[in-house]
Amino acid sequence: MLERGGGPAETAMLSTIPAILASALLPLLTLDCVSGRNIHWYAGPYLGFVHQFEVCPSVERVVLIFRISHFNPVRPFDNQILSGNMTFRVDVMDNHWTFVDFAVRSNNQWKENAFIMNFPKTGCSSLRENVPDFFRIIAKYSGASTDKAVPCRVPAGRYIFSNEPVNWTFPHFPVMPYGHYRIRARARPSSTSTRINFCMILDVEAIPKPGG
Ligand SMILES: *[C@@H]1O[C@H](CO)[C@@H](O)[C@H](O)[C@H]1NC(C)=O
Ligand SMILES: *[C@@H]1O[C@H](CO)[C@@H](O)[C@H](O)[C@H]1NC(C)=O
Repeated sequence: MLERGGGPAETAMLSTIPAILASALLPLLTLDCVSGRNIHWYAGPYLGFVHQFEVCPSVERVVLIFRISHFNPVRPFDNQILSGNMTFRVDVMDNHWTFVDFAVRSNNQWKENAFIMNFPKTGCSSLRENVPDFFRIIAKYSGASTDKAVPCRVPAGRYIFSNEPVNWTFPHFPVMPYGHYRIRARARPSSTSTRINFCMILDVEAIPKPGG
C-alpha cells in the first residue's frame, strides 16, 4: 500500500474534477448563502475546459506534466489538444487517498479553501469512469485497460505523447455550477500519512454550454 500509493489518485482527480465540483459546490452554495459572502452561483449544462496544469511539490511517485491548447470560445466544441509527459514510478490502482482543496475565483481574487474534499481509496477506476476520454489517452500509451470489467491498473512507466485531442466530458456530472476554479489534488498512501505521492493543480473553468 505504501509504495504503491502514487499518482493515480491525482490522475483520478483530474478525471473527477466535475464530480468534485458537483459535490463540493453544493455545500458551498449553501454556506455562501448563509454567510452572505455575496457569491452568486448558477449551475446547469456546462462546457468544462482547462486553462493549465501545474505540478506542485510531492515525493514524485507520479509526475504528470501536461500542456494543453487554449480553449477557443469561437469554436467551443473543439476538443483541446493535450501533450504530456507522464511518469508513474509505481503502478497506479485504487489504493490512494486523494485530498482536494478548491479555490474559487470571486471578485477578482481566489478564495482559498472554499471547499476541501477527501477521496478514500480511489484512483485508477475513478478516473476511468469519470473522465473516460482522458483515461483513453492514458490507456493508449500505458496499456491500461479501458474495460470496466477489468481491474484498473496503470502500469509503472514513462509515457510521453503529444497532440492528443481530449474530450472533457464527465458522464456522471451533466450539470455543474459555472465558475473558475483552482483545484489542488494531493495523493497520499493513507488517510494519516503526511507523505504526498503526487500533487497537481488544475486551473479549470465551467461555462454554460452553448445551446444548452
Ligand atoms: C519527461 O519528464 C522527465 C522528468 O519527469 C524529464 O526528465 C524528461 O526529460 C521529460 N521528457 C520529455 C520528452 O519531456
Ligand atoms: C465529446 O463527447 C461527447 C459525449 O460522448 C459527445 O457528445 C461530443 O460530441 C464529443 N465532442 C467532440 C468534439 O468529440
